[in-house]
Amino acid sequence: MAGCVPVPSEEPSTTSNPVSSNVHENVKKYYGRYLESSEGLQTSAASCSFPCRPTPKSVVDALTLVHPEVTQRFFGCGLPVPEKVESCKILDLGSGSGRDCFALSKLVGEEGHVTGIDMTKELIDVSCKYIEYHQKKFGYIKPNTTFVHGYMEKLSEAGIQNDSMDIVVSNCVICLCPDKRAVLQEAHNVLKEGGEVYLSDMYASKVIPDRFKQDPILWGEGMGGSLFWPDFIALAQEVGFSTPCLVSASHIVIHNCELKAKTGDISYASGTYRLFKIPKTRVMSKAAVTYKGTVADFPDEIEFDSSHIFKRDVAVEVDWEMAAFLRCSRFSPDFSIQILDKPQPSPSSTAQYCHLNPFLLADKRGSSVRQCSKTDRSGGCST
Ligand SMILES: C[S@@+](CC[C@H](N)C(=O)[O-])C[C@H]1O[C@@H](n2cnc3c(N)ncnc32)[C@H](O)[C@@H]1O
Repeated sequence: MAGCVPVPSEEPSTTSNPVSSNVHENVKKYYGRYLESSEGLQTSAASCSFPCRPTPKSVVDALTLVHPEVTQRFFGCGLPVPEKVESCKILDLGSGSGRDCFALSKLVGEEGHVTGIDMTKELIDVSCKYIEYHQKKFGYIKPNTTFVHGYMEKLSEAGIQNDSMDIVVSNCVICLCPDKRAVLQEAHNVLKEGGEVYLSDMYASKVIPDRFKQDPILWGEGMGGSLFWPDFIALAQEVGFSTPCLVSASHIVIHNCELKAKTGDISYASGTYRLFKIPKTRVMSKAAVTYKGTVADFPDEIEFDSSHIFKRDVAVEVDWEMAAFLRCSRFSPDFSIQILDKPQPSPSSTAQYCHLNPFLLADKRGSSVRQCSKTDRSGGCST
């Protein structure tokens, strides 16, 4: 299936919960009508972000080829582009105008396929308008992108089959969803076993108070709906994913004084995590793994996440979960894996997850996503 799934004359049916429907409608207005470009974001992570680890040249080149009208309406807060995507089937949750989809379309090649789903008609229209442009730009005989107007809480209703995707990506979207469990559960359902979710999103340093959720600007900017990061880890595990791996993180600095005052002592970070769907029957033993240097763009070493850099031909001992990711995923041909006879319980408390804290990683890497509002581009808040 390639092309633009016809946009229904009526809106796709939303969740039966009236609170969710109201939030959906506000977010659609925010991104569909109110914001003309990423410059318009009150708290723009998109226009000022820089990644805290080097971006491979192939990814930079693919991004450069994306049409300017698409790029202009990019509202993401990270770069959810994993390694080794050639020939993969990828789903982008909340694809917006399609920037990440078109870059991935180049990277998966003609044998791969990218589907974007978004509930905002104006943005789906932009992505549909440029399907043929990118097909020709990349020299493909037929397009390898499809854009669907629908809700990511209801992927099967939108025509996305269970167990059909190699990778699910998302860029600054889950923070806008009232029902985050439904989104993660649906993502888990549509992934093939061994597949992964690779997502960039905003996270909070504390649980967000309920009053933030009523403020349409705070919600529209992702600050009203960001998850406290340990709650994200717990939710991912509850729906059946492995423990998320933290790939990269940046602080989000709010330079708009009004918003800063509203958020008080809550801080925000942009974090990119990868979550695998591993088989239910697992070998829970440590392993010695050796990277073969075979993943394109990474001949000498591969930074799998912020805690694991695998150098070519160097054996490293890893815990049972990392061993399972490497054994069960598309990376399995790229590693030799020797199971060690050392059974190991999985971690169970938040304290054991401090290496997954995006705020600590952003501190360590000294990186920040500056929040540059139109009203206050230069300075900080005087208070
Ligand atoms: C911050 S923008 C990011 C868009 C895109 N990922 C990008 O990087 O440019 C959030 C997008 O998520 C979409 N979105 C939010 N909630 C959604 C939902 N429940 N189902 C489908 N799309 C949703 C919005 O319509 C909007 O396009």
